[in-house]
Amino acid sequence: MSELSASDPQAASGRQQTAEQVREFFAGHRTVRQYRTEGGQPIPLPQDHLDAVLYAAQRAPTHSTSQLYSVVQLSDPAVRARMAELTGNAHIAAAGAAFVLCADIHRTAQILRLDGVEPGAWPDVANHFAVGDAVMAGQNLLTAAEMLGYQGCWIGGVLNHLAEIVELLELPAGVLPFSALTVGLSDEDTPYRPRLERETVVHQDRYRLPDEAELRRNIEQMNPIAARGGQPGDWARLLKMYWGAGGAMEQREAGLSAVKERQGLQGSR
Ligand SMILES: Cc1cc2nc3c(=O)[nH]c(=O)nc-3n(C[C@H](O)[C@H](O)[C@H](O)COP(=O)(O)O)c2cc1C
Repeated sequence: MSELSASDPQAASGRQQTAEQVREFFAGHRTVRQYRTEGGQPIPLPQDHLDAVLYAAQRAPTHSTSQLYSVVQLSDPAVRARMAELTGNAHIAAAGAAFVLCADIHRTAQILRLDGVEPGAWPDVANHFAVGDAVMAGQNLLTAAEMLGYQGCWIGGVLNHLAEIVELLELPAGVLPFSALTVGLSDEDTPYRPRLERETVVHQDRYRLPDEAELRRNIEQMNPIAARGGQPGDWARLLKMYWGAGGAMEQREAGLSAVKERQGLQGSR
């Protein structure tokens, strides 16, 4: 069934969009890193918009009803500036609103202890679901912001100086930043960024390994995402810089492991 009938309660409530409207909305997604400012200062989201995006964040589905995440809203310009520095993402200081989405098992442990129950030993499970909860809340927030006409940017750059960020935000044990997230009015002309072919990403019943020709075709399709200053893009080169031996992700590994250990979120094996 592709469309709900007009008598369906969901359609009647005004929630239903056509397939075309849904495609059009998501085609409009852009990660944006330059935000409109006024006299060099961020233009804050009006209170009703801020309320709406935070409401959306909290309406995200959540594992085991637990809400294993926290959102740290960054309001103090000094904290914003320091976060911009630590993450290497200057737009944290200039965005209309900025947040840090954290996996959080601290609050759940506190609730258990209210009745004298000690939390079990489940750091791997906690990591798995708490990161998932943080992602879902954050992506709901971003989608709601886009519905209101803003654009945003996830900032995994929190892993660049994770220990300092945990200290700056005074995160207790059991709380681990997943990513920062900025939202604001776009001040840039952002290109539509491609994605892999659907057949390469979406498998039917069983995982299908792509052959070399398919991978090369996909790399070609993705190349524009890596284009800079009129120069043609080389997406595979970008992936090598991120994920290759000695690349950016390998450099983040030790810092993340150390902070997970300190925050009590390091797995047992
Ligand atoms: C978890 C996550 C972390 C990201 N971290 C950064 C970041 O630190 N800095 C940045 O400028 N963009 C960051 N991005 C944005 C991606 O680069 C962007 O989503 C990607 O290039 C695709 O572009 P699009 O969202 O405009 O389609 C991040 C995105 C995600 C989902």
